[in-house]
Amino acid sequence: MGFPDNRLRRLRKSESMRRLVRETTLSVDNLVFPLFVRNGKGLKEPIRTLAGCFHFSSDTVAKEAQETAKLGIPAVLLFGQPTKKDKTGSEAWSENGAVQLAIKQIKEAVPEMIVITDVCLCAYTDTGHCGLIKNGKIDNDATCELLAKVALSHAQAGADIVAPSDMMDGRVGAIRQCLEKNGFPDVAIMSYAAKFASAFYGPFRDAAESSPDVTTGLADRRSYQMDPANAREALAEIALDIEEGADIMMIKPALPYLDIIYRARQRFDCPIAAYNVSGEYMMVHASAAAGHIDLDAAMTAVLTSIKRAGADIIITYFAKELAKKLND
Ligand code: PBG
Repeated sequence: MGFPDNRLRRLRKSESMRRLVRETTLSVDNLVFPLFVRNGKGLKEPIRTLAGCFHFSSDTVAKEAQETAKLGIPAVLLFGQPTKKDKTGSEAWSENGAVQLAIKQIKEAVPEMIVITDVCLCAYTDTGHCGLIKNGKIDNDATCELLAKVALSHAQAGADIVAPSDMMDGRVGAIRQCLEKNGFPDVAIMSYAAKFASAFYGPFRDAAESSPDVTTGLADRRSYQMDPANAREALAEIALDIEEGADIMMIKPALPYLDIIYRARQRFDCPIAAYNVSGEYMMVHASAAAGHIDLDAAMTAVLTSIKRAGADIIITYFAKELAKKLND
């Protein structure tokens, strides 16, 4: 066996042939589109750091969700911003918070849309941290209690899936118990299980105004988000979240962590999601805008790599763009 009997190029000769033997195909079925909401009316403001993305109010976001559904995208992921930040991030669990109102409006306008909500405090605390600060440190257990309150308020508003992104230990268990106790056993948890401390969140933090305040003495999130050097620890994080009652395990960011996606896929049988984060998105956009690469081809290569590595679900700011391309 070998050349010339084997010529692998035979199966690459035309697009039909390539389609026939293609191992990985992207589908709108697995896409999640992130949306940013604020209090107010009639808002649709472009986000300077995230090309093609907007800040919406709860009324306009419902229309956006409708358009997203029309493209065949089954789910959106909501991020909120408060009108006022405080020490505990209390607006995060307010009944009249931007996210809580948006959930209701989206579910009313598009009942079949799966509404996922980001559960965290960083956009709501005046410190910009994902947890409460006590004696110069993030208070893990007190934060878990607040996160459970946030998740419950989202469930009460009608969220289908809550997605804790804070990286406190034990928060999935705290949320699961709180949902169970309060009559929401069917609300799913998509855990940001292996979330790495990453430079690629930059554009998002500008958009959500959620950068850590350096005057707190805690300049970054490295005491709670994972060290980029660790793979085995990522698998341990995922195993714990499964045990605590999460339904979907997320790895984030996606591109620099394809090996983690691959290893998680080998090890676990649960659905795996990957978050193609803001910095990864803008890397492609900025490079295309500068004329270095073709946006469409680069987008397809990036998202295909994430799926090929083993992700079932891809959360991406490209969702609508990819859906339009796939629907053509
Ligand atoms: C909140 C949160 C962040 C992202 C999602 N949820 C920012 C952070 O951890 O600082 C990043 C998403 C992106 O970059 O697209 N904790």
